[in-house]
Amino acid sequence: MDSYIDTTAPETDLATRMVGVLKQNDRGGHTAPANFYPHQWLWDSAFTAIGLRHSNPERAAEELAGLVGGQWANGMIPHMIFNTGREHRLERDAWRSWLNPFAPDTAATSGITQPPVLADAVVKVGQKLPTDLRREFYRFMFEPLVKYHEWLYAERDPHNEGLTLQIHPYEVGLDNTPPWMMQLYEHNRPWWIAAIETLHAEWVVNFIRSDTRSVPPGQRITSLEALMLWDVVRRMRRKRYDINKILHRTLFCTQDITFNSILVRNNIQLKVIANSLRRKLPDELLDKFGHTEEALGKLYDEPTKQYYSRDFITHQLILEPSIGTFMPLYAGTISKANAKELVDLLRDHKTYWLHHPVPSVPLNSKFFNEERYWQGPTWINTNWLIIDGLRRYGFKQEADDLAVRSIELVQKSGPYEYFSPLDGKGLGAADFSWTAALTIDLIKTSIDNIGKTAL
Ligand code: GLC
Repeated sequence: MDSYIDTTAPETDLATRMVGVLKQNDRGGHTAPANFYPHQWLWDSAFTAIGLRHSNPERAAEELAGLVGGQWANGMIPHMIFNTGREHRLERDAWRSWLNPFAPDTAATSGITQPPVLADAVVKVGQKLPTDLRREFYRFMFEPLVKYHEWLYAERDPHNEGLTLQIHPYEVGLDNTPPWMMQLYEHNRPWWIAAIETLHAEWVVNFIRSDTRSVPPGQRITSLEALMLWDVVRRMRRKRYDINKILHRTLFCTQDITFNSILVRNNIQLKVIANSLRRKLPDELLDKFGHTEEALGKLYDEPTKQYYSRDFITHQLILEPSIGTFMPLYAGTISKANAKELVDLLRDHKTYWLHHPVPSVPLNSKFFNEERYWQGPTWINTNWLIIDGLRRYGFKQEADDLAVRSIELVQKSGPYEYFSPLDGKGLGAADFSWTAALTIDLIKTSIDNIGKTAL
């Protein structure tokens, strides 16, 4: 669908126009990621709130509080809270979260989580609220956050390794990123998917996919991949999202580098919230936080000087390059020397520092496709995470450079879901909330860091 906001009109200030996009996607209480994503997603809402805090911090706080409404009694914050509209019954039914005894009665949700970027968003939104409201907001979010982080360790780090495991690429948010797709292709397809493949009947899937109705199929995951990923959900549903049963026989079981790096940073932000409230986090949880910071080192591969995700069972690194390698910058706890190696890689013109950095996979990867979702395009949320990390390590020039390029990309093409890293063309959904929100944040924080004149 075309945007009713003219996102390229030069006379309107970019940040103001991006606020308009967020208003357009506001569904009352939660911001839809885009028109064809009508539900509430965990990390989308966190990124949205980070941008929204500059114009309407109270609404940003409400966005995050809404996520607590979907929290399970065991502490999990689900990756999706479904829209209650009658027209979305099929999607709610597809997940059937109510099969699990811990799922809330008041909301239909998915049965898995997403990168835990919530504590960071809570801190950042809190910074923009007046003191009394900040305290009230932190108090409201504190217990749910503690329960969530405790759940992440209790359920997702069963061997106490310091690294949490993920059971579906949707949990990482980088749906078709090559390291996960490689694992997907290693397994035999269920007979009915193999039959669809043999009969070349993938087109049937397009009837039940809403994304390919609005976006050219070449920019999304293939129908076969969509089916295979859906089948993994179906199997989890059959096990009522009981992790012990799922782990007994699962297609995916990965200690993902992006997820765990985000966890490290958010553990630190949870401590910030606790300190500000003068509350104590359980000692056991604090020990686990420290353990994860150290354990990120297990995802480092000395020969290639990069970080990778790891198979939970075999402990083998999945040596397939992707943007995940840069996420330890956001974690902020790796050594300065390791951070410097990542910056050198980031600035390499043959792989990552393309015309519109940072591509989701390097140019020299066999998976690289400038248009296909998480297999090449540049995304503003991963740029934002990298910029945040670069600043923390003192790589000011690189951070400023990437911030300016990200802002210019949105200025030039509009707030698309993702962009070609080669020519900057906007791809996927138009008027995408986290692109708009994080552009606002980059503009506001870059003005502090770079100075107004540079923008
Ligand atoms: C896509 C993205 C995921 C995001 C969701 C909603 O599935 O891969 O990260 O949360 O859309 O925007």
